[in-house]
Amino acid sequence: MSELRLSSEKRLRIFSGRGYPELAEQVAEELGIPVTPTSAYDFANGEIFVRFEESVRGSDAFVIQSHAAPVNKQIMEQLIMVDALKRASAKRITVVAPFYGYARQDKKHRGREPISARLMADLFKTAGADRLMVVDLHTSQIQGFFDGPVDHLFALPILTNYVGSKVDRNELTIVSPDSGRVRVAERWSDLLGGCPIAFIHKTRDPRIPNESVTGRVVGEVKGRTCVVIDDMIDTAGTISKAVDALMEAGAKSVIIAATHAVLSGPAIERLKACKATEVVVTDTLPIAEDKRWDGLTVLSIAPLLARAIREVFEDGSVTSLFDGHS
Ligand code: R5P
Repeated sequence: MSELRLSSEKRLRIFSGRGYPELAEQVAEELGIPVTPTSAYDFANGEIFVRFEESVRGSDAFVIQSHAAPVNKQIMEQLIMVDALKRASAKRITVVAPFYGYARQDKKHRGREPISARLMADLFKTAGADRLMVVDLHTSQIQGFFDGPVDHLFALPILTNYVGSKVDRNELTIVSPDSGRVRVAERWSDLLGGCPIAFIHKTRDPRIPNESVTGRVVGEVKGRTCVVIDDMIDTAGTISKAVDALMEAGAKSVIIAATHAVLSGPAIERLKACKATEVVVTDTLPIAEDKRWDGLTVLSIAPLLARAIREVFEDGSVTSLFDGHS
């Protein structure tokens, strides 16, 4: 008797764009599977071509690309990969963007501006993404821009574990570099035994990108070890001015902790020149050797991404990874 066996078993597959293949390799290694072989190249005029070298039919596809510089190219390549997966009958497509580009443009500050963070979500949806996985979005409400599930992962436990092991918690103050990140500072404080928090009153001219004016420190920082936190360090203008303000206000020492090391333009120069004793970041973005120095500590994000991917694949719980910090 002939028999037809039907299997609805899902197959987990990891795909990587060319933006940061090392991260995808680390994630795949954590999961114990290889990255799916992929050909990708640029045409003479800059257009991108992508083809997967194995069948992807029926797979649960996770497409990893961190939106590092050149940001627009990495995003376009990820969109093209999603399109190729859709047309090759992947069962479900998850865009894994450890650093989600354009997240800072999440609202109109003045008339006639775009909301590019929303446009990004629309582009991924149109290309064929079923869900997004991201780490420390600039603002949580960006999750609502994507019409589908968004796994918003937090680097907080990774950063607090490291920083908590290095400082005397009795003299610790967590500092938000602006009023917008006070809630995150509170979460840091919760995880580090309820230490005080402070923030820096910052004003910014919306017409000048990457330019901030640091104001006064609000909170208890004199004689204390301050950990100034942020979602990203781009040109390091914000964070280095925050360090200056804290030292002027009498802080004993300052540690910088941020999730995304964008590190554009003068960032390294500013970070080295500022009085912070250590700069702690994760590797959601590639950090070239010439941008590393003794004062920089880079914590790996791959184990967290791998655990989250496994939970999604197995229909488990991503929230459980954060002990309620979701
Ligand atoms: C601002 O709202 C962000 O959270 C960061 O503080 C800012 O984008 C960092 O940029 P930069 O390092 O260029 O000051």
